[in-house]
Amino acid sequence: MALPIKLFEGAAHASLYHKFRPSLPHQVFERILCHLQEKKSQPFKLAIDVGCGSGQMTRPLASHFEKVIGVDVSESQLEAARQITNSPNVEYRIGVAEKLPAEDGTVDLVTSSQAVHWFDYGAFLKEVHRVLRPHGSLAIIAHGNRVPHTCKEHDRSKDEKLEKLHTDFYEGSALAPYWSERRKHIDNLYSDFTIPYDGSIRDDTTIEMIEEMTVASFIGYLRSWSAYQSFSEQNPEATDPLVQFYERLTEILGVDKKEDQTMITLKAPMVLLLGRKPSE
Ligand SMILES: C[S@@+](CC[C@H](N)C(=O)[O-])C[C@H]1O[C@@H](n2cnc3c(N)ncnc32)[C@H](O)[C@@H]1O
Repeated sequence: MALPIKLFEGAAHASLYHKFRPSLPHQVFERILCHLQEKKSQPFKLAIDVGCGSGQMTRPLASHFEKVIGVDVSESQLEAARQITNSPNVEYRIGVAEKLPAEDGTVDLVTSSQAVHWFDYGAFLKEVHRVLRPHGSLAIIAHGNRVPHTCKEHDRSKDEKLEKLHTDFYEGSALAPYWSERRKHIDNLYSDFTIPYDGSIRDDTTIEMIEEMTVASFIGYLRSWSAYQSFSEQNPEATDPLVQFYERLTEILGVDKKEDQTMITLKAPMVLLLGRKPSE
C-alpha cells in the first residue's frame, strides 16, 4: 500500500480549506440518494465519507443517515471539520482510504469528494467492497477548476480575460512546479477512474458547480490551493504571485482594489461516478 500523500496537513492550510472550499450542489446529494433508494429502503444506517477534509461532503449527509463517519488522514483537516457546528450523528475519525474504519458489510454509502486521486485507488476499491452492504452505493465526485466570471453583467469580453488570467495563474511558472502530477486527474475530470460494478454510471455533463463569491473570498480560496501553499512554504522571500493576479483581476473587473467585496461567479464542471455493490 502506498503511503498517503501529506499535502493537506498544516493547521493554517486546514483553516483555509474550512473557510473557502466550495459547498457542493444539492443535485449531487439528490442523485446519490436516488441511486441508493433504487435498491434500498430507508432508514439508511451508515455512510462513510473518505478523504473528508473539513467535511464539505460529510455534513449534508447527516440528515439522511443514522450515522455518518468522515475519515481523513490529516488531523488538522479533521480538527477544522469538528469546529463547525455539527450534527450529533456525525463523527470524524483519523484513518486512511486503504483501511476503512468499518466492519465488513455494514455501510450503506461510501462517498469521496475531490480526494480519490490521492488514494491507492485499487486498495480503496477493495476496502469499499468489503465494508459496503449488498446493494450499498459508492459515490465519487470531483470538480474541475472554479473559473471566475463576471457576476450580474455577463460581460463576455471580461469573462474571456478572466478565463485567461485564471489559466495563466494555474499553469504559470510560479505554481507549475508545485502541482502534483496527480492533478491531471482533476484536469481530465477523473476519466481514468471507474467503479468496477455492473451498471456503474459516469456523469460529467449534467451537474455544474456555480457559486457567487466576493473577490476577497476568491483570493482566499486560491490561497488554499496545494501548489500555492507549497510555493509559499518553499519560497518565503519570493513575491506573492497572488499580488499580481489580484491587480489584473481588479483591472479586468474595473473595480477599485479596496472594493474586494465585489461579487464574481465561479463556474466549474463536475463529475459524479456512481456504482452499486451487487446483492450476494
Ligand atoms: C482535496 S481534499 C478534499 C477534501 C473534501 N472532501 C472536499 O471535497 O473539499 C483531499 C483530502 O483527502 C485526504 N487524503 C489524502 N490521501 C488520503 C488517504 N489515503 N486516506 C484518507 N484521506 C486522504 C487529504 O488529507 C485531504 O483532506
